[in-house]
Amino acid sequence: MLETLDIHDGHRVLEIGTGSGYNAALLSHRLGAENATSIDIDPALVTAARCRLAEAGYAPTLHVGDGRDGYPPGAPYDRVVATCSLPYIPPAWITQTRDGGLVLTNIAGPLSGAMLLATVTGDSVQGRFLSRWAGFMWARPGFVRARDITARDTAEGQYETRGSKVSAQVLEDHAFAFVAQLHLRDALPYWAQGDGGAAITGLVTPDGSWAEVHTPPAAEAPPHVEQGGPQRLWDIVEDAHTFWEDHGRPDWSSFGVIAGPERQRVWLRCDDGEHVWELPTAGSSD
Ligand SMILES: C[S@@+](CC[C@H](N)C(=O)[O-])C[C@H]1O[C@@H](n2cnc3c(N)ncnc32)[C@H](O)[C@@H]1O
Repeated sequence: MLETLDIHDGHRVLEIGTGSGYNAALLSHRLGAENATSIDIDPALVTAARCRLAEAGYAPTLHVGDGRDGYPPGAPYDRVVATCSLPYIPPAWITQTRDGGLVLTNIAGPLSGAMLLATVTGDSVQGRFLSRWAGFMWARPGFVRARDITARDTAEGQYETRGSKVSAQVLEDHAFAFVAQLHLRDALPYWAQGDGGAAITGLVTPDGSWAEVHTPPAAEAPPHVEQGGPQRLWDIVEDAHTFWEDHGRPDWSSFGVIAGPERQRVWLRCDDGEHVWELPTAGSSD
């Protein structure tokens, strides 16, 4: 990641997610501790990292806080690198990065994501997802858990049952999961075992929409889907799958992001407005 960041002498770098302090040590070694700032939301981790770094002879600026807010006292930064994931680029990172500076981060939702390298210009940022895939833990506070969404209405007559046009396993394909994530936005996946050993793949959203694909063991019968609530979540997956196949099964590296103060959008192949998805911005993951 540090090579991808294209770091040069004198650059000031903000890292989100201090963790062990290892990356902060590398940044301090390469750029001088006076040019390295690292934030973690966990005070105990920051304390431990500070000790380790001191033992190694480094004293970068370490800050306890939510990395979404950046760290204004050290701005402007030449580079921002996040070692945790978010479903969008926090606006503070854009305003705290100098013109032409780079942001390298894992943009991810509950189903999938990928690494984005983007250039800041004024109050906007644009870039592409890297072909080399990586994933990180979600920034805390993260997504609500599927089991905490209780609005699911499974009463008789309140949901539909039909055959599924795609296997539930399509979500295991990284390239398709990335596309499904763009379409499903805040849907949370879950997995369970149903009566008779059927494998259940479920999706649920905070508005009470839900879908479950039941796949009987050993292909005894074709998979069927049950779904209810205001959105038909499995219809969205099936439509996304048709879109993905019609466009040559692209992986994340065919997609890019353009983000300004108001909106953040993902585009496919070029930002011509033809295939564009809104990224959920602040609030959706809180
Ligand atoms: C994969 S670890 C980082 C590894 C680290 N860069 C290293 O060199 O060891 C992810 C870190 O992100 C931190 N984190 C989670 N949510 C955060 C947030 N909202 N703001 C800042 N850090 C956060 C976690 O506490 C965790 O230490």
